[in-house]
Amino acid sequence: MNTPLRLGIAGLGTVGVGVVKIVRQHAALLGARTGREIIISAVSARSRDKDRGVNLSGYAWEDDPVALATRDDVDVYIELMGGTDGPAKASVEAAIAAGKDVVTANKAMLAIHGQALAEAAEAAEVSLRYEAAVAGGIPVIKALTEGLAGNQVTRIVGVMNGSCNYILTRMESAGLPYADVFAEADGLGYLEADPQLDVGGIDAAHKLAILSAIAFGTRVDFDGIELEGIERVSIDDIRQADDMGYKIKLLGVAQKTGRGLEQRMMPCLVPATSPMGQLQGGTNMVAIEGDAVEQVVLRGPGAGEGPTASAVMGDVCDIARGLRLPVFGQPATGLEAATRTTSLLPAPYYLRTSLVDKPGALAKIATVLGEAGVSIDRMRQYGHDDTTAPVLIVTHKCTRAALDTALAAMDGTGVLASEPVVLRIESV
Ligand code: NAP
Ligand code: HSE
Repeated sequence: MNTPLRLGIAGLGTVGVGVVKIVRQHAALLGARTGREIIISAVSARSRDKDRGVNLSGYAWEDDPVALATRDDVDVYIELMGGTDGPAKASVEAAIAAGKDVVTANKAMLAIHGQALAEAAEAAEVSLRYEAAVAGGIPVIKALTEGLAGNQVTRIVGVMNGSCNYILTRMESAGLPYADVFAEADGLGYLEADPQLDVGGIDAAHKLAILSAIAFGTRVDFDGIELEGIERVSIDDIRQADDMGYKIKLLGVAQKTGRGLEQRMMPCLVPATSPMGQLQGGTNMVAIEGDAVEQVVLRGPGAGEGPTASAVMGDVCDIARGLRLPVFGQPATGLEAATRTTSLLPAPYYLRTSLVDKPGALAKIATVLGEAGVSIDRMRQYGHDDTTAPVLIVTHKCTRAALDTALAAMDGTGVLASEPVVLRIESV
């Protein structure tokens, strides 16, 4: 067997402990598969005394992740602390500068600093790998950069945040409002330390930005994503959507249009019978569409100790085998900034509002939609109180711009009793 591959792991939380366990439990398997013994030289975390449920006594301890990243007995620096900047970025930069290969699960850092880090890693001729950063245990980075490398990718669509999918499916199954399920998920520890990263769609958008860069050969462009979280999704919308044969998902879509790259992360309606519509709990799903392959759908656990550590170890094994690929599938210095477009592609839309319950109110809404060129596919009034009438409209395919024109005109009709809820209906 060749010389051992020596790991330095910074971050001994959920993912870091999972990695330590796999290295210990599967030592023989990893050696057989890679031709190299994979060992841990040193570890780092904030608290040295915390019981982490694994035996760390055989590993050197560093308080400072930068010191860990640059140790002589570390070949691969594994960053599992998290955070866009701070010690995560500093230590990854130090590792690259010291000629170490790097593995990270840190989507926030890559979505913001991915281009600079990729250029640095490629200039230093080291690997920077991040399978665990997107969709947890699903090997979607490997699928895009390797298995599907012969395709011009046309669209990526996916559910990439398990916590949001848990909240939406739990709201539906328990008939509970958003606020109750949010509190429940938070109590169960399902949400990030800053829950806004999950429910605001930011975490999922970080992942989409990374996938887009690989798929479309553009620089990571997190700021180019049209972003909306799930906070405004109501139990009423979930029920109405269900009644019409749809489920509401926090859906990421990246698609090349004639005018540029469209990236969206927002709650959408998808057919209830589709694989995406049937996705329950914390599971993730990513569909990749390519000109040759047509469509590949990957489904699996989007988070958790075992699944995320599994993805980290896939990267470690590739490094042990000597596989070195450009960080985003092609040399980083050649990546261009994407030309951005927003919701140019037409789609049907779901529109729910309440109208003042008086003669002609519905006609006014239908008129402003028609004047904006938005055609109604289905419409229904579904029960009302003394003064207002809830109305649900599904449009034929239209552009978001046309719909926005209609919404602005609706505002001036004097018949709206509540702010309209608008959700795109996506084909998946
Ligand atoms: P976590 O459980 O919060 O663990 C973070 C670890 O980093 C802790 O061990 C902490 O030390 C250590 N740490 C924080 N700041 C440090 C510092 N300045 N110096 C040294 N150590 C420091 O986080 P996690 O869930 O394992 O996530 C780690 C990374 O994986 C993040 O980038 C996350 O986004 C990503 N990820 C996580 C999952 C998941 O399912 N959890 C899935 C995909 C990707 P102490 O333990 O001493 O506090
Ligand atoms: N908060 C993330 C999620 C963790 O729920 O998907 C995995 O990235």
